[in-house]
Amino acid sequence: MTAPGTTRGKFITLEGIDGAGKSTHLSWLEGILRDRGKTVIVTREPGGTPLGETLRELLLYRSQAMHAETEALLMFAARREHLDKVILPALDRGDWVISDRFTDASFAYQGGGRGLATQKLDELEYWVQGEFQPDLTLYFDVTVEVGRKRINAIKAADRFEKEQDEFFQKVRDAYLERAHKFPQRIRVIDANQSLEEVKKSVEIIILSIC
Ligand code: TYD
Repeated sequence: MTAPGTTRGKFITLEGIDGAGKSTHLSWLEGILRDRGKTVIVTREPGGTPLGETLRELLLYRSQAMHAETEALLMFAARREHLDKVILPALDRGDWVISDRFTDASFAYQGGGRGLATQKLDELEYWVQGEFQPDLTLYFDVTVEVGRKRINAIKAADRFEKEQDEFFQKVRDAYLERAHKFPQRIRVIDANQSLEEVKKSVEIIILSIC
């Protein structure tokens, strides 16, 4: 519960297919909010807690294949901890939280990419977070081709980044479908544009909620 006299912080999530450039935008986004006097917590999924980071290691870097439902359950298990230990306490203190990915990623990757039924994901979402949703989600939209070029340029590929273009096309389609379903919360940013143009678009959106 938020203490009397404290305004609850806002929860902002960043989404996109691998290589969309979210991480690049995260640090200056944090800077904009700090400049506006906000206390900002930056975190990520899967991860954000010691247990969550251990699950991340299993999900991203152990090469063994797993059932799509196992993958989804582990993502939501990490999320449960993340909400309980990091996100909700910070918002209650009045801090702002930026998370590099959240539940939309499960709908896009496990739903779109792996083909899990949306209804199962809806149930897990409700179980883990009830009605709780981010205040704002920035979805950085790039074509699979652009995303692929940027992944190759950065580092050794993790278990998701090793997937084929067809997988990423399904992930992207699922993200766009979610953005269409929740137009108030999810703002689509054309991240095929230059860095400066992307920054400008993000800044306008962020300043409108500060
Ligand atoms: P990512 O956010 O791209 O981190 P990095 O920039 O270090 O590569 O990696 C997280 C991966 O986890 C990404 O490929 C998407 C995947 N993921 C899911 O499949 N489902 C989820 O619910 C979440 C949060 C992430």
